[in-house]
Amino acid sequence: GWNADVVTEVIAGHAGQEGSLLPILHDLQEAFGYIPEAAEPMIAQALNISRAEVHGVVTFYHDFRHEPAGRHVLKLCRAEACQSCGGDALAAHAEQKLGVKLGETTGDGRVTVEAVYCLGLCATAPSAMINGRLVGRLNDKKLDKLLAEVAR
Ligand code: FES
Repeated sequence: GWNADVVTEVIAGHAGQEGSLLPILHDLQEAFGYIPEAAEPMIAQALNISRAEVHGVVTFYHDFRHEPAGRHVLKLCRAEACQSCGGDALAAHAEQKLGVKLGETTGDGRVTVEAVYCLGLCATAPSAMINGRLVGRLNDKKLDKLLAEVAR
């Protein structure tokens, strides 16, 4: 879980620094694995900006999570090269198999599936990343194998 003292510490660590919003958010994500919503007003107050501004930045960047991730993280590439090689169908397949939408975590906390925008593996599109490991030339069958790997 998150901890207000850690948030206060992180904010203090960037005091007086210009453009500190992103570094603060990165530090928080590193500390907690996500950006706790309750941290947003604390950051807003410290930086003298509105809470909506903080929230806007958190939601704009795909790297920031709003809730803790599942035990496994599957990132499906949704950028152009992968899109044109069946990325849409693959994402739909993953969503259907896991019973969640992109950006969500299965109810048992097992897998988070999310979109990424180019993994630098366009030559072997469609591509994905599972728990930090890159996988190319994906198809439904290969995806099922990956999902079986993260079945617990
Ligand atoms: Fe998917 Fe580049 S577009 S890896």
